[in-house]
Amino acid sequence: MQVARTPRLILRQLVPEDASFILVLLNSQGFIDNIGDKGVRTLNDAKEYITHGPMTSYAEQGFGLYAVVLAENGFQIGICGLIKRPTLEHVDLGYAFLPQYWGKGYAFEAAQASLALGKQLGIERIVAIVSSHNEASKALLNKLGLKFEAQLQLTPEDAPVELFC
Ligand SMILES: CC(C)(COP(=O)(O)OP(=O)(O)OC[C@H]1O[C@@H](n2cnc3c(N)ncnc32)[C@H](O)[C@@H]1OP(=O)(O)O)[C@@H](O)C(=O)NCCC(=O)NCCS
Repeated sequence: MQVARTPRLILRQLVPEDASFILVLLNSQGFIDNIGDKGVRTLNDAKEYITHGPMTSYAEQGFGLYAVVLAENGFQIGICGLIKRPTLEHVDLGYAFLPQYWGKGYAFEAAQASLALGKQLGIERIVAIVSSHNEASKALLNKLGLKFEAQLQLTPEDAPVELFC
């Protein structure tokens, strides 16, 4: 199901058939270094990630992480959307793209569409959390108009992250 359209992109709900793309994306170096290792190693793991993660979120929250595809050819290039984590009070913006699609403004376009979607859904405050070392993501957040607010420790095991609002 399509949820948003931008000049170059379509955001649509993830489905189990996206497993091969998710398997590649979640094991890409940028994802592992900046978001973490989700332990998704097989197509079956990827299907479970999609059904237990994004698809459960659509059903329970009415939003989630979406597949970002190029409007011109339908290529899957990344994921972007909104997440409600049990460890964070507010809804946060999330995104990750395959490295070959970085530096083209796609992340900015998809993130803007996700923030607009959040507004349409009546979500008043959307935040973002980012590792201090993730300069590309922080630059994107600044470009979107979000500003650094505080350092956060989401769980005792995790490294501190920066909260942008
Ligand atoms: C974080 C991440 C999404 C940022 O992606 P990105 O490619 O740097 O972001 P964009 O797609 O918006 O690209 C921005 C650059 O594209 C270039 N660009 C090219 N064509 C463009 C266009 N038509 N419109 C806008 N920018 C364009 C610009 O140079 C722009 O740089 P600028 O900000 O200096 O103007 C990407 O690095 C990623 O997926 N990382 C791994 C996962 C991750 O870290 N997720 C975030 C966790 S908090």
